[in-house]
Amino acid sequence: MRQAAMMPLTAFVVAGLSLSAGICQASQEYENNVELLQRKLTLQKFKPHVLLFVADDVGWAGLGAHRTAENSAEAQGKAETQTPVLDNLIRDGVLLERHYAASNSVPSRCSLISGRLPRDFPVAPRGMSNPATYWNPEDNVSGFYGIPRNMTGIGSKLKQAGYATHYVGKWAAGHATPEQTPFGRGFDSFLGFVGNENDYWTKQSDLEEFIADPCLYKFQDFSFYNATYRGGVADTIAAELGCEERVKGKSFDKDGCHEEDPNDCLPESCYEESMLLEYAARLIQNHDSSKPLFLTYASHEVHLPLEITTSALKREEQADAQKERKLPWTKARRVMAASLAFMDSAMGRLIDTLKARSMFEDTLVIFISDNGASLQLTAGGNNYPLKSGKFSEWEGGVRTNAFISGGFIPARHRGSSFHGVIHIADWYATLCSLAGVSHVDDVSAKANELLRLQGRPLLGEVEGRPQLQNIFSGINGRLDVLHLSANAVLKWPYKLVTGQQGDSFWPGPVFPNCSSDGPDGAFVDVYTHMIPIDPPDRNMLEDCGNGCLFDVEVDPSERRDLSSNEAYAAVLSSLQKELKSLNSKTFAADIGESHLEACLQAFQLGGFVGPFVDVGDFYTAQVPGVEELETYRQELMDLHKNLTDPDFVNRTAEALKERVLSQRSTMGSECLEEGRLDY
Ligand SMILES: *[C@@H]1O[C@H](CO)[C@@H](O)[C@H](O)[C@H]1NC(C)=O
Ligand SMILES: *[C@@H]1O[C@H](CO)[C@@H](O)[C@H](O)[C@H]1NC(C)=O
Ligand SMILES: *[C@@H]1O[C@H](CO)[C@@H](O)[C@H](O)[C@H]1NC(C)=O
Ligand SMILES: *[C@@H]1O[C@H](CO)[C@@H](O)[C@H](O)[C@H]1NC(C)=O
Ligand SMILES: *[C@@H]1O[C@H](CO)[C@@H](O)[C@H](O)[C@H]1NC(C)=O
Ligand SMILES: *[C@@H]1O[C@H](CO)[C@@H](O)[C@H](O)[C@H]1NC(C)=O
Repeated sequence: MRQAAMMPLTAFVVAGLSLSAGICQASQEYENNVELLQRKLTLQKFKPHVLLFVADDVGWAGLGAHRTAENSAEAQGKAETQTPVLDNLIRDGVLLERHYAASNSVPSRCSLISGRLPRDFPVAPRGMSNPATYWNPEDNVSGFYGIPRNMTGIGSKLKQAGYATHYVGKWAAGHATPEQTPFGRGFDSFLGFVGNENDYWTKQSDLEEFIADPCLYKFQDFSFYNATYRGGVADTIAAELGCEERVKGKSFDKDGCHEEDPNDCLPESCYEESMLLEYAARLIQNHDSSKPLFLTYASHEVHLPLEITTSALKREEQADAQKERKLPWTKARRVMAASLAFMDSAMGRLIDTLKARSMFEDTLVIFISDNGASLQLTAGGNNYPLKSGKFSEWEGGVRTNAFISGGFIPARHRGSSFHGVIHIADWYATLCSLAGVSHVDDVSAKANELLRLQGRPLLGEVEGRPQLQNIFSGINGRLDVLHLSANAVLKWPYKLVTGQQGDSFWPGPVFPNCSSDGPDGAFVDVYTHMIPIDPPDRNMLEDCGNGCLFDVEVDPSERRDLSSNEAYAAVLSSLQKELKSLNSKTFAADIGESHLEACLQAFQLGGFVGPFVDVGDFYTAQVPGVEELETYRQELMDLHKNLTDPDFVNRTAEALKERVLSQRSTMGSECLEEGRLDY
């Protein structure tokens, strides 16, 4: 075990006096200062291992610790939320009760990796659901989806501080150039998917049901990068990770069985989360413990598609036999319960592996969710008792589960909760300060020198704040206005929400249930033409216009809008002004248009999605022959020509729509009869 190097007592006292100007201050305050300083000095010398666990779409009600059992419905909801490992970690850690993020994945994850607020990232033009192939060659700094190219990622910062750095799981922070991949953001190795979601079995996009795209959905989104290999997860690499069956080019049901033969199923070792977990556990097992470890484990659970292993579902079934169930399952809710339990056991395996290597005592565990749960009936998520969910600015969308734990947490803080505001961007500066490096980004500052000369918009600075001291001292480090998004600000304890918000309702403790009637406002995307397939009222829209106002401290469920209350007129107008002024400073980069290069590159890489601009010698994998590539290019060109034909677009849209509507019942919104537990 590595020991913290302590400063000699004399040096420490002298430093303490020079910092706290008056020795005649109240002794309590003096003691706090000394304690703070001691901690600071200790922190500078001692670099704990960091396990950053990023959960995907895990709603407020998806954490056992946030469940109560005051009536039978709540008790059922609690029983369906089995997160014993997380609950134990919380018991030994600090529950972060005011952790805010963006209301959806990409801006949240960009914020986490770059320390900027979510508003600093290029947004996709309206009506575009798949911007990963987009690029604006006129702007090679910001003309991409995700984090602009010229920014320093958190991996680079911790690497600079001497950490071994690894990223496992979902990236979703941009990948057009090598600089924008986890590798380019300073992670020594990466196993995972660069996009937003993929199928847990095929590792291809699962969105082909909703989106017609010229190329992307032909390919697997599953990559492995290290110092000597950068390319797709080829069969040999998959086999090393325990998945010895060929997956590529085959179709599977949601339970990993072949579509033609339901008895011919993939081994569970080929389930994506199993492979991610296997790799992460090996990283810990093989870690050189003289170095601090920074492992980001960005779980796929519990994001769509609703796919889980048979054994995880069986465990749910067995647990079910012992429960008194008042409300029957919906398919989606039951897969959600199994997925939460799977995620919990994934954390359990990582913790056990850290303990087996005697690393846990020196580890800071950080658990966060990227945003709230989606409340679409087919997603199975729940944010009870918060309002709404993913893609909305209501608390159910932006206030997320978070805690810190691990041996690094001082004994006297264990089992506590912290109510100061933390933003997902804050982890960047928090980890920099923990590792003893500056959080200032020299790379973006350098790019700005040039951009300034060119009269172009500048890259934002790191706005995340170090929060560990605040957490340990009970200080709210974000009392000033926090720009949550273009539609919302928080100035503790007041929150302003503007504009139209979808899914505006309060899910109950058992949601979705058989009486839930929406939301299910789905759309299909035909080559970037967004076509809604449900009437607008299925989206449960609420219009806040210029502003709804809530005191989220006393009214966390946002049930009492204060905007028309005279007593709050000044608060309302000041927050409206703040939002307007903050919005006027955001810059929206032009991310150009879809580039054929993205598809050709994936083809050349043997069918794996990855960077496609300035790739140089990034890839180490094999490329197929020139002739095949030319044939494929012709095919793409044909398709592009077809897209100029409105009839073709219409026919494609109609076909997609029909498929989505016909699959809706099998995707989980209908009720399962009592005792019927098939998948
Ligand atoms: C951006 O990069 C591409 C590829 O390297 C290059 O062809 C293009 O000229 C660059 N654009 C500018 C404005 O420099
Ligand atoms: C990188 O990964 C490949 C494939 O698993 C492996 O053979 C190689 O040893 C790894 N390189 C390093 C430096 O770890
Ligand atoms: C942005 O980063 C790229 C890749 O590292 C580099 O080639 C380019 O010069 C940088 N641009 C600016 C404006 O610093
Ligand atoms: C069932 O869902 C509806 C919303 O669709 C919700 O109002 C109700 O409270 C839920 N029932 C329970 C017991 O949670
Ligand atoms: C283009 O449209 C034609 C006519 O509908 C169709 O036969 C062909 O398969 C389409 N090509 C592609 C690549 O979709
Ligand atoms: C296709 O065209 C028909 C006839 O113009 C129209 O009614 C229908 O809404 C279109 N379908 C879609 C999905 O746009």
